[in-house]
Amino acid sequence: MDSEELRDRSRKFYDRQAVWYEATRRPFLLGRRQVIAALGLQAGETVLDVGCGTGWNIPHLRQGVGPGGRVIGLEMSGRMLERARRTGSAPNVVLRQGDASRDDVAVEPLDAALFSYSLSAIPEPERALDNVLRRLRPGGRLGIVDFRVRGAGALDALLLAHGRRCSCDFAVDPVPYLLGRGLAVRVHPQLFGYGYRLVAAQPDPQIVSERTGAGAAGAVWSARSRPPSPVRSRAGGPRTPRG
Ligand SMILES: C[S@@+](CC[C@H](N)C(=O)[O-])C[C@H]1O[C@@H](n2cnc3c(N)ncnc32)[C@H](O)[C@@H]1O
Repeated sequence: MDSEELRDRSRKFYDRQAVWYEATRRPFLLGRRQVIAALGLQAGETVLDVGCGTGWNIPHLRQGVGPGGRVIGLEMSGRMLERARRTGSAPNVVLRQGDASRDDVAVEPLDAALFSYSLSAIPEPERALDNVLRRLRPGGRLGIVDFRVRGAGALDALLLAHGRRCSCDFAVDPVPYLLGRGLAVRVHPQLFGYGYRLVAAQPDPQIVSERTGAGAAGAVWSARSRPPSPVRSRAGGPRTPRG
């Protein structure tokens, strides 16, 4: 399947899922509130929710940026976005239909961006990350929460197969890519290692970063100067289209 077919398949899948989405996903999509808290949103900031789905995160993001801030939700599925519009509309919320890996994700500079269980659902995750990082201000924060399968056991295979049925690739690992782009990354494993949440900070020339090592609060890596590496798939190489 080429990337065009994958996008089409993903959009149709989430269009069909929109009615059931909230009721069926809530028990499994853990860590959304925690990753938003870790973004450290400030009053007046602009935050982008990439693949905002039915808009579950929108009220929490609004609370973070306050009435003077802005929340932008970008979503590829029209049906998911319809539901987000029903519950998430507010004067300081902009909900747009678009493809994070193809379209300009925002016209304004962003203080923060969130991929909440959406990075694994985006057929071209590296392009989506590129698009977001292009708009993220120096010192801006990127939060990601998602599933991640790294082993080769029976449960791993089962989860990867389930992911494919849901039009997702749970082998996507953005950490090498973000480190390669010079971001400082803090990762917290969750779901017994089958998921993670992370916050990465765009380098700010004003701040000299240092390697800080691993601590109780999660593994911390500092920005290091090396060329960008691809978003890792299970094979350890660039992600290939899913069939
Ligand atoms: C698993 S849902 C997560 C929804 C929401 N972020 C949440 O936490 O409940 C993944 C979402 O990503 C959207 N998506 C997939 N590919 C996308 C793309 N290229 N651009 C924008 N949204 C995309 C899907 O339509 C779907 O709504």
